[in-house]
Amino acid sequence: MILLKVNGTEHLVDCPDHKTLLEVLREDLGLTGTKQGCDQGECGSCTVLIGGRPFRSCMMLAAEVQHQEITTIEGLAKDGTLNYVQQAFVERQGIQCGFCSAGMILTAAAFLEENPEPTEQEVVRAISGNICRCTGYSKIVESIMCASKKKEGN
Ligand code: FES
Ligand code: FES
Repeated sequence: MILLKVNGTEHLVDCPDHKTLLEVLREDLGLTGTKQGCDQGECGSCTVLIGGRPFRSCMMLAAEVQHQEITTIEGLAKDGTLNYVQQAFVERQGIQCGFCSAGMILTAAAFLEENPEPTEQEVVRAISGNICRCTGYSKIVESIMCASKKKEGN
């Protein structure tokens, strides 16, 4: 049994020691917003926040992150209202098929906490570990720049 704290809720999960955090999130907790892409730490689609920082959930065992604060895309909206990064992605059409979006948005949210007024180059660098096969990235960068303006306005 392991204890995971995900999106503010504690879960006791009966799973084998070798199960990754990604597998537990999707298969045991039903949090399928976290996407399984390469499963090799390359694409970033499985990104979640642990203690507010982005990590690839396919590259860590669930047992390793017991008792830590884990945030998935399902935990970003509050009381039915999208968070400001999610809103910006919708407004600026930073989403096409959506496969990369959870990882991209969580990466951006963590980045903007540390750097609320980034340049475009800094945004490009921040998302360089997240692969998108659809958008050509310009709409994603635009969305994150838009989110940074929203954050300033808060
Ligand atoms: Fe984890 Fe690609 S699925 S990095
Ligand atoms: Fe399809 Fe990024 S929107 S992979």
